[in-house]
Amino acid sequence: MAEYMLEVENLESGYGETQVLFGVSLKVERGTITALLGANGMGKSTTLWAIMGVIPAWGGRVIFKGVDVTKLPTHERVSMGMALVPEGRRLWPELTVEENLYLATFVPRARERLKENLELVYSLFPRLRERRHQKAGTLSGGEQQMLAIARGLMLNPDLLMLDEPSLGLAPKLVQDIAKVLKRLNEEEGLTILLVEQNVHISLQIADYAYVIEAGRIRLHGPAKELAEKPEVKKAYLGL
Ligand SMILES: Nc1ncnc2c1ncn2[C@@H]1O[C@H](COP(=O)(O)OP(=O)(O)O)[C@@H](O)[C@H]1O
Ligand SMILES: [Mg+2]
Repeated sequence: MAEYMLEVENLESGYGETQVLFGVSLKVERGTITALLGANGMGKSTTLWAIMGVIPAWGGRVIFKGVDVTKLPTHERVSMGMALVPEGRRLWPELTVEENLYLATFVPRARERLKENLELVYSLFPRLRERRHQKAGTLSGGEQQMLAIARGLMLNPDLLMLDEPSLGLAPKLVQDIAKVLKRLNEEEGLTILLVEQNVHISLQIADYAYVIEAGRIRLHGPAKELAEKPEVKKAYLGL
């Protein structure tokens, strides 16, 4: 079994003529929470889209569970156990909570564990169970974020990637979501790549973290060590 769940090597990508990623390298060890941190517009979402194969890699490699997936289409990466909870949630607002969850299970690995995973997400988010027949578009922002995470979990992933799950949420909800991610990691052994502008909350729950600036990894290290670095404190923690 490969030691790393994910290895990104010198990844280059962008949009049209515009290069956004200039050789991003990062590793996600199995069973850890790894954070990718950085300010708005630095290339965090682009990194995730390229890892998922939604946009092509212009250079470099993406290795998932020891397999080079750089040229594989997104659905094959999902079938292998990658899942992304995208920024802005992207739910089906006219469908109910439960329909959103069922529709996520389009790959065999997800269908095989549909019942267990539905029970898991309802136990993690009791509010979603209460509201399972309600249209997703009528949920509060926090509930919609919970549903987006639940939908990612329904894919039965080995690696769950989340793009700014705390964005736009009140501090209490941000803490709740952080707790759920920690619980999934500790109790279910789920490996997580957490992308955030919220450096504070991320360094609280992550084992290891990378900081991206203008499409390049600026620094990385164990989360506890990064939180102590003067440049991180000054630029990202407001200390
Ligand atoms: N669909 C797109 N088309 C063109 N440029 C884009 C697109 N999405 C993002 N960008 C540009 O790529 C850069 C990085 O964006 P992004 O990866 O979304 O940053 P982050 O997630 O760190 O905020 C920004 O300069 C942004 O304007
Ligand atoms: Mg983004």
